[in-house]
Amino acid sequence: MNNLGIFYATTGGNTRLVAQFLAERFEKSGLKSEIFRLETAKWADFDQFSHLIFASPTYGHGQLDPKAEIWKEKWEKMSVSLSKKPFSVIGLGNHKYDEDYTIESAQILADFFQKKDGKLIFTPLKVDGHPILQLKTKINDWGNDFLQKTQKKG
Ligand SMILES: Cc1cc2nc3c(=O)[nH]c(=O)nc-3n(C[C@H](O)[C@H](O)[C@H](O)COP(=O)(O)O)c2cc1C
Repeated sequence: MNNLGIFYATTGGNTRLVAQFLAERFEKSGLKSEIFRLETAKWADFDQFSHLIFASPTYGHGQLDPKAEIWKEKWEKMSVSLSKKPFSVIGLGNHKYDEDYTIESAQILADFFQKKDGKLIFTPLKVDGHPILQLKTKINDWGNDFLQKTQKKG
């Protein structure tokens, strides 16, 4: 992997916390990444990166963050492609809000960017509940696995 762009949406700040934690974790292993808000991204912003991570919480009974939802609806109509670029996704949610649509954002992001010709390269990270207690365990482990997987592939 050469470089990584992390594009996230958030309303309450939890997803930003996860994105920033992972960016710091990656940097400790020598992988520089840059973090952006997804809802202000232009498609061309993805070009400069060899790998991408997209992250969003779940709101509204199994939808993306409202700002990311608007962004997705706009780009869904456009003829744009990720040209087989490798990507992974992070979804946040809370089963206490909606047991039927828990952390749907991960699948929504995966489906959307696959339809746009991206290559999903790694198991989505799904964070149920507040991330702070999971940073040093589940989220850190996912970051380690992500590094291993992507470094193996070069
Ligand atoms: C109004 C509201 C609706 C929510 N709806 C869902 C939902 O449908 N499914 C789910 O898994 N989590 C749901 N959640 C939980 C959030 O996804 C979770 O709190 C997440 O960590 C928020 O991320 P953020 O701080 O980055 O915005 C909801 C939270 C709120 C406040």
